[in-house]
Amino acid sequence: MPVRITINGVERPLQVQPWTTLLELLRLDLDLTGTKKGCDHGQCGACTVLVDGVRVNSCLTLAVMKDGASVVTVEGLAQDGELHPVQAAFIDHDAFQCGYCTPGQICSAVGLIAEGRARTRDEIRELMSGNICRCGAYVNIVAAVEQAMAAGDRAGLPGGRP
Ligand code: FES
Ligand code: FES
Repeated sequence: MPVRITINGVERPLQVQPWTTLLELLRLDLDLTGTKKGCDHGQCGACTVLVDGVRVNSCLTLAVMKDGASVVTVEGLAQDGELHPVQAAFIDHDAFQCGYCTPGQICSAVGLIAEGRARTRDEIRELMSGNICRCGAYVNIVAAVEQAMAAGDRAGLPGGRP
């Protein structure tokens, strides 16, 4: 089926099968392998991307349902060679070990900051609870998200795009 999806700021005319997930489209068709497959069941958050500014599990999202949408993956966060504030905060705080969950954690954190609902560490923990880290880097992840939240608007979506 023909769809047009804007991926990291570039509109892409695409052909997808009705059963192709957004995760499969990104990883297998477009070689955007930053987005990870963990459980493939909506339980781990490794596949989190931003669709029209909202964080979603791409393993549970059919690509055909996102015709006309704007998708931002971890590859689209850095701008003009400069890391996104959330990416920089993850490095500052050593907020990963193996790194497998990290792209999903970072996209989820960008979505969380855009939602503006988290004010405290406990709220960050609660609202990031859909992103599992098997290495247990949670203390540093929360510290990184706190730092990025303090960066305010700069921690939003790159280029102000949805
Ligand atoms: Fe999508 Fe785990 S791979 S939630
Ligand atoms: Fe290894 Fe999170 S850093 S799963």
